[in-house]
Amino acid sequence: MSAQDPRLAEVVDALVKDLHKFIVDHRVTEEELRYAIDFLTEVSKNNEMPGLADAFAMTTVADNVTHEEASQGATPSNIEGPFYLADAPLLSPPHRLGRPEEGGDPLVFRGRIVDGPSGQPIPTALVDLWQADAAGNYDIQDPGAPAFNLRGRLTARDGTFELRTVVPGAYEIPKNGAVGRLLKLLGRHAFRPRHIHFKISADGWQPLTTQIYFAGDQWIESDSIGAAKPGLVAPLKSRDDVLVSEYTFQLTPRK
Ligand code: BEZ
Ligand code: FE
Repeated sequence: MSAQDPRLAEVVDALVKDLHKFIVDHRVTEEELRYAIDFLTEVSKNNEMPGLADAFAMTTVADNVTHEEASQGATPSNIEGPFYLADAPLLSPPHRLGRPEEGGDPLVFRGRIVDGPSGQPIPTALVDLWQADAAGNYDIQDPGAPAFNLRGRLTARDGTFELRTVVPGAYEIPKNGAVGRLLKLLGRHAFRPRHIHFKISADGWQPLTTQIYFAGDQWIESDSIGAAKPGLVAPLKSRDDVLVSEYTFQLTPRK
């Protein structure tokens, strides 16, 4: 009988073969397999499957495979992660994120948005961005934060935009779940380097979902989810009481 879904059959067959080989190569016992099954049952009961896929860089590897054909000189994509919310407030200039009393180091982020191959500025682009607060928490993790705190959408004109915000803190995968417990047993830390998420879209170019990290961050070489990439690191410089960061986003023309 032929498979109703040939692609599903191809990947499931390959996965099962790899798992059998893994069990044989590593002499995995029945007791160890039961331990793994109990762990995965707990993970799915706690809705931690997405977190598990992140913690073992599966989402990052799938992102790389999906976008490996992006044009030369294009800004690398990076995973969306679990904290994106659609329909963030539309910002007008001067674009500001966070509460008036938002804690943390003030940051001015200057973005350029250009056509990757030619380097020419893209006339109009929609930039949807979100970040953690200075303690590394996203608004949806913090009952005290107003809705859509540190999130917004803005229009970049003539290939530039400026954003006033605070430097985000390093996010830590929660320690109280099954994934956090496993990382501890493995002796792995659970921090991500500080970052801001971007989704950029412009008519005529492929949409880009990415994250920008900051040079000198202590976790950049050991991101707990393996997502940080050298091509996504922006400088962070001190100028007149604020930190300033700049990054040029290079988009790929639509085919
Ligand atoms: C984040 O973008 O902050 C994130 C991504 C994956 C897992 C946890 C956090
Ligand atoms: Fe994030």
